[in-house]
Amino acid sequence: MTLPTALTELLGCRYPIIQTAMGWVADANLVAATCNAGGFGFLAGAVMTPEEVEAGITAIRERTAQPFGVNFHMYTPGADRIVDICVAHKVRAVSYSRSPAPDKIEKLKAAGIVCIPTVGALKHAIKAVELGADAVVIQGGEGGGHTGAVASTILLPQVVDALDVPVVAAGGFKDGRSLVAALAYGACGIAMGTRFLMSQESPVPELTKARYVAAVPETIIVSSKLDGIPQRMINNPQLHELENASALRMLWLALCNGLAFSKVTGEGLFSLLSSGWKMKKATGMTLPQTLMAANAPMMIQAAMVQGHPDEGVLPSGQIAGVIDAIPSCEEIISGIVAQAHERIASLGALTAQRPSQD
Ligand SMILES: Cc1cc2nc3c(=O)[nH]c(=O)nc-3n(C[C@H](O)[C@H](O)[C@H](O)COP(=O)(O)O)c2cc1C
Repeated sequence: MTLPTALTELLGCRYPIIQTAMGWVADANLVAATCNAGGFGFLAGAVMTPEEVEAGITAIRERTAQPFGVNFHMYTPGADRIVDICVAHKVRAVSYSRSPAPDKIEKLKAAGIVCIPTVGALKHAIKAVELGADAVVIQGGEGGGHTGAVASTILLPQVVDALDVPVVAAGGFKDGRSLVAALAYGACGIAMGTRFLMSQESPVPELTKARYVAAVPETIIVSSKLDGIPQRMINNPQLHELENASALRMLWLALCNGLAFSKVTGEGLFSLLSSGWKMKKATGMTLPQTLMAANAPMMIQAAMVQGHPDEGVLPSGQIAGVIDAIPSCEEIISGIVAQAHERIASLGALTAQRPSQD
């Protein structure tokens, strides 16, 4: 079964299904499993050093011959080096979101790398295309991690109508019928984070995966308390504490975790503060909010890497609330494609000529 669209042509994959980057989740193994199943995976380079990105690319190549992409933030100190690594290793595509840098986009495009940012609002989609994006992923507010305020059902047709480049739908997708719905809106495919986080090949510890399976849509909420930017997460004791902490306690937590993070990454506190400062300038956040942003990586890793779902935080799309199994990437993708074909056939039957009754 095939499902060719502008997206499969652009990315060189079999099906119009992207596995998006997720910090500490979208590792080489998950990306390769997605690509081998006919989708297109992005390595979560935004939480990696340039050396780790390069090692990740090598590890993906050892596991698959299919094309794949790398996600990173263009405002971080290692961004120039990551661009050079993507060019040297001829990755097929890069994804990025906040603060796109025109010089880096130009360099990537000159090397033939597809630039496909994720945006959560129409004005950002228009700006992204002005800056050279070959396609855009729109993420509706249902989506996991940092997310916008507009639902996929509103944002997707709004952006499709405004742009001339291929548009991919993200935020709240998990199956074949939602893929067909996205295609009907005019998208050329879907991009999913949470669905792939909840897969066999995802490195997230079992105890944490179980929390995702147990979640219901109403408890997957948006909060700005983690890093000053609206982020969708499963409500747990830690998030509850953050939501109710005084400004002084928030500041204390942020400083402690920021220091610990600089030790873990070896990035150095000065470098961490300097990328925080760039983030502050790019996003217009206040200094206390920027300091709070130093909090996020440690707390996410506590749940996603160390497997302590109550002590850390759990970034998640609302879709986790209606996912109740942890299949393999191959089962996820082949299931989506089979269901999409069924739905397209039954929709086609609605308008098919009825045989004459004579
Ligand atoms: C645990 C988690 C981590 C994420 N980390 C990143 C990231 O590092 N970079 C990024 O661009 N998006 C990140 N996102 C957003 C996803 O790439 C994707 O856009 C989103 O999950 C799509 O919505 P869905 O969860 O409904 O599929 C993350 C999302 C989750 C759930």
